[in-house]
Amino acid sequence: MCGIVGVLGKGPVAEQLVDALKRLEYRGYDSAGVATVANGELGRRRAEGKLRNLEELLTRSPLYGNSGIGHTRWATHGKPIEANAHPHMTELVSVVHNGIIENFRTLKDELAAQGANFTSDTDTEVIAHLITHELTAGGDPVRAVYNTLKRLEGAFALAMIFRGYNDLMIVARQGSPLALGYGNGEMFVGSDAIALAPFTDAIAYLEDGDWAVLTRQGVAIRDRDGRAVERPITRSLASALLIDKGNYRHFMAKEIHEQPEVIGHTLAAYVDFATSRIDIPALPFDFANLSRLSLSACGTAFYACLVARYWFERWARLPVDVDIASEFRYRETALDPGGAALFVSQSGETADTLATLRYCRAQAQKILSIVNVRESSIARESDAVLPTLAGPEIGVASTKAFSCQLTVLACLAIAAGKARGVIGPALEMELVQALGEVPRHVATVLRDERPYEMLAPRLSKVHDVLYLGRGSSYPIALEGALKLKEISYIHAEGYAAGELKHGPIALIDENMPVIVIAPRDDLYEKTVSNMQEVAARGGQIVLVSDADPAATGCAIATHLAVPAVHRFVAPLVYAVPVQLIAYHTATFMGTDVDQPRNLAKSVTVE
Ligand code: G6P
Repeated sequence: MCGIVGVLGKGPVAEQLVDALKRLEYRGYDSAGVATVANGELGRRRAEGKLRNLEELLTRSPLYGNSGIGHTRWATHGKPIEANAHPHMTELVSVVHNGIIENFRTLKDELAAQGANFTSDTDTEVIAHLITHELTAGGDPVRAVYNTLKRLEGAFALAMIFRGYNDLMIVARQGSPLALGYGNGEMFVGSDAIALAPFTDAIAYLEDGDWAVLTRQGVAIRDRDGRAVERPITRSLASALLIDKGNYRHFMAKEIHEQPEVIGHTLAAYVDFATSRIDIPALPFDFANLSRLSLSACGTAFYACLVARYWFERWARLPVDVDIASEFRYRETALDPGGAALFVSQSGETADTLATLRYCRAQAQKILSIVNVRESSIARESDAVLPTLAGPEIGVASTKAFSCQLTVLACLAIAAGKARGVIGPALEMELVQALGEVPRHVATVLRDERPYEMLAPRLSKVHDVLYLGRGSSYPIALEGALKLKEISYIHAEGYAAGELKHGPIALIDENMPVIVIAPRDDLYEKTVSNMQEVAARGGQIVLVSDADPAATGCAIATHLAVPAVHRFVAPLVYAVPVQLIAYHTATFMGTDVDQPRNLAKSVTVE
């Protein structure tokens, strides 16, 4: 994982490097570092922990030089200590790396036997030593990197600078994303275009196997066989995106509150409200001819897929398989040629999701993706893309991207139902109108956060929380538990309400909060029976529902009121209370809500 940047600038670059790294902190924040070439000499500063530690270090101990590289780390090999922070370097070369070098042990043994002195536990350091070995054998930097790249197995995005070369940077990509930014007499490189947004919007993406030699005047790109190639320069949308917290304490709070607006934007892209009809762009397959649809994703996006399964199966009569992307390949499932696979990802860079996409492509599946970053690898490798219009999501715990994923999936399920002849014009209109009301309902939930603030002190004291839901509320229970775990570090589990009696009921006592997601739909009465089972054992029930708590017949410790909504859109509206429960509990506890420990927003390792 990790984020990398590089600048060949007109003046000192340390500040620009840190500025770009701030936009990449979503990729990891265990440590950070920068290196520059100043008067031909390599210099470096590194600090454990968040970027502000590096910033403070640079204030105390500035780093000069007009060319440099930077890194923000999510630890894979070696603890998150300063010695393992990037850049890694020898006297001759400095390297930043995103990815994993799979054969690093063999290479390290070989280099150590030749006398190389390793100072970290990382896989990356072998790259610096391999290049150094080539350089001391008389190679120039380009030849040294070319020979080194041939020896590396695994995934990487690399940027390298060299002693004695003020106007040279070499970068390479295999598996991990890398964007080149073209300035006026300046060149930039970053793990994504957002990192480079303050500097340029002229962006080219390297393809897998590409490596490039950068000077301030331009770039020579070669493919893995050393052939000169051109990669198109596009105008990135990233620079137009404003990234700040506004008046909110945290990005997460801002993003939760943006939901009425971004759900509305996303709906507007897929719905014609004038006619109350779904309006989906052309797809690479016809829903009418599909016998199954396969959905894969990770984390929160996986839970969006679980909700979508209820929609596709109930409303479109389309059988659906849903897989955690990291597990999909291990099922070795038989895929019919010409079948369709749908991938959902906020970042569009999640390594497991991308690997599954490539597996499906190799099995002749048509590939559709729902992504929030349109320029991402998953988007570029799909036959068709349905973007979510959530805008940049900075909080590591996904909120508005999730609700926008649900929005697109709901529209797609209606389109599927129409194509399969099971949703007629009247039902289409009913469902579209229900979707159109979602922004208003979400705004209603967000209008009064006091009940969540009042619940937070109580939840902050417990070690475990259960979330229950039935039908399409079951994935919302899973998502609620994930949100709480991620940002408050309280252990939480989501269960299908009907499964309570098959195990989790053993945990219930008067100290166990049980959060029940229970819209008043046709499953509601069954969920009430499960609540009674909890109440009978003294569990503290937190009811998230439009129902009257007094009418449940059991003691409800807290009622979090939700407006009455059409059952089709309930998951979209009920996603918000579970976000607020997690957010207010975590802020009460004082955790780092936007950058919770050990997590990263974009997970580019398998
Ligand atoms: C990480 C993030 C989650 C996200 C998951 C999938 O675990 O912390 O918030 O749901 O990756 O990411 P994607 O970008 O593919 O949606």
